Amino acid sequence: MDYKKSIPDTFAGISSLSKNDAQKEIGRIREAIIYHDRQYYIKNKPVISDSAYDRLFCRLEELEERFADLKSENSPTSRVGAEPVGSLKKRRHTVMMQSLQAALEEEKIRGFDSTIRNAAKRRTIEYMAEPKFDGLSVELVYTNGALEYAATRGNGGTGEDISNNVRTVKAIPLLLADEGTIPARLAVRGEILMTKKGFQELNRTRIAENREPFANPRNAAAGTIRQLDSRNVAGVPLDIYCYELLQTSGNEPATQEETFEFLSHLGLRVNPERKKCLSVDDIARFRETMAEKREQIDYDIDGIVVKVNDRPLRKKLGSRERNPRWAFAWKFPPGKEITRVYDILVQVGRTGILTPVALLEPVDIGGVTISRATLHNEDEVRRKDIRVGDNVRVERAGDVIPEVVGRVEEDGKKKRGAAFSMPEKCPSCGDTITREGAYHICPGGLSCRAQLEGRLRHFASRGACDIETLGDKTVSHLVKRNMVTNIADLFALSKDDFLSLPLYAEKSAATLYEQIQNAKCTPLDRFIYALGIRHVGEHIARVLARHFGSFDKLRNAKPEELLHIREIGEESARAVAEFFGDPRNNTSIDRMLDYGVKPEDAETKQAQKLAGTTIVLTGELDRYSRREAKQRIEALGGKAASSVSSKTDYCVAGKRPGSKLEVAKNIGVRILDENEFESLVH
Ligand code: IVH
Repeated sequence: MDYKKSIPDTFAGISSLSKNDAQKEIGRIREAIIYHDRQYYIKNKPVISDSAYDRLFCRLEELEERFADLKSENSPTSRVGAEPVGSLKKRRHTVMMQSLQAALEEEKIRGFDSTIRNAAKRRTIEYMAEPKFDGLSVELVYTNGALEYAATRGNGGTGEDISNNVRTVKAIPLLLADEGTIPARLAVRGEILMTKKGFQELNRTRIAENREPFANPRNAAAGTIRQLDSRNVAGVPLDIYCYELLQTSGNEPATQEETFEFLSHLGLRVNPERKKCLSVDDIARFRETMAEKREQIDYDIDGIVVKVNDRPLRKKLGSRERNPRWAFAWKFPPGKEITRVYDILVQVGRTGILTPVALLEPVDIGGVTISRATLHNEDEVRRKDIRVGDNVRVERAGDVIPEVVGRVEEDGKKKRGAAFSMPEKCPSCGDTITREGAYHICPGGLSCRAQLEGRLRHFASRGACDIETLGDKTVSHLVKRNMVTNIADLFALSKDDFLSLPLYAEKSAATLYEQIQNAKCTPLDRFIYALGIRHVGEHIARVLARHFGSFDKLRNAKPEELLHIREIGEESARAVAEFFGDPRNNTSIDRMLDYGVKPEDAETKQAQKLAGTTIVLTGELDRYSRREAKQRIEALGGKAASSVSSKTDYCVAGKRPGSKLEVAKNIGVRILDENEFESLVH
């Protein structure tokens, strides 16, 4: 029977099957399921009923259970999810996953078009206009037609490996289609998203299970796909649209138009909405059409993406900063709605800044329910004259926090509420609020509970102590359960403490515990940044680390010394002095040190023993790659030059040295062997 056409009501008994027959049948069923998945998920044209599909799937499960060695990672049955993991592995992307230049205004897109026409010296350029999906950008890599791995975009260079989770998404083929030739290696970029319908269903279930609903489909998709337990991903309605070819070992399509055909032939899902455009006017029409369709289509889009169609021309145009010159996101204007302010509360942020927040009668803006919006600061509230009970215009643009843009004047009969003013005491810790320009600040620092969640999240973030598995949910649980009332408490938690939190199992608890232990010796610059001192970003933290070398010296620095560091402005210097001058912060820091926190000392300027020294490397060293040797020289303030001159101080000669060694000898430069180099850089 051809399982691609119909499925029998019952199958032959398994016990009578030989392994050989089972293998053949498994092969036929897998092929048929892949075919039906493609018909259903990619082509939207199913040819068998859901119940017939389920029968076929069950048969495959039974066969694989009976003949366990015939199981395969690429079998459709592997889509139910794998064992949970402690953390997501890092993955370097095949090529940099860049981001897009973006704007709302038509002039910007006209500017983009004329820059390209000038650079390409062509009067007209063929563009491909596509929807800009509001989801999560991912890389999918196929080797010999089988999904090898999938990774999130991350910082563009490296993302997180989400292969286990992606394997459960039925819209993503585990094996590429057999139509045409399959390249030995293929890397594509696409957007994982959740349909609006799927999102509503998921939230209904979550609410029924007493779990926090997701704010919008993008968060739901991102939250799901970054889970540690892929069994929770299976069954969540995730979808994908592939839109960029990152790499192929086979023939490259010449245009974006052909790319879509190529991807679709391979069984990858591409979106049907796209238009080839020859002018900005054409592009504007496509944008208009998409804006009109936006409400009806079942996934969120936040604009259109315009791309040069011709791939060789893209290569010529290249990139600027982190964006390709050949693409542009023309976003939709932010959604706006009118609603009523029923209260104004004051929130205390991570660095102690007080922000007035309007609590609103819930209103739907672009598919997202908004019930609070920022009012920025007291001056803004006064300027806009917003009071409790007023009707206001609220705006939301993509990721941006919704904002109250203004008051809607009403007929004068109604009596209005009192004008807003900031409290004098911190609503969380009761400390007296201070003022800095437009800002009101709670000086409570590490001991103010309201600042705690934000501070913890920041403390654990990538550029800070990098406690990767300490996510927002865990932070929130730790604070709500009073398990952490001060950052220092983090270092006193045991593995069992994490096991008592929802969603933690042996392995994940052990991983988090281990990561926190590792964070005890975070490099000094990142530790300083992690403390979340106002006006101390990553750069200032590095300057401080280089200047002081050890945490102890920084902590005990006199305010005048801080004020005299050249690269540090007065504002930052004062903030640092105030931070370390506050006894409450010092109590927290002392506790951290008691728990064994010991930031790794930094190399200070004084310790830069190779400052002013120029070194040339030639030949191969046993203990260092060329790059490592260079990094070492530079870390100590030296210069690694590529050719020998009278300015060269040392020439380091490894195995099989090049002609540089001869030159160095001739002009009397001191030659070092690997051991001598080693003692120089230690
Ligand atoms: S192309 C180098 N096409 O928009 C250009 N991106 O930065 C690669 N996005 O994170 C991106 N829809 O996730 C491209 N049709 C589309 C897209 C798209 C959505 C996302 C992408 C990126 C963000 C902007």
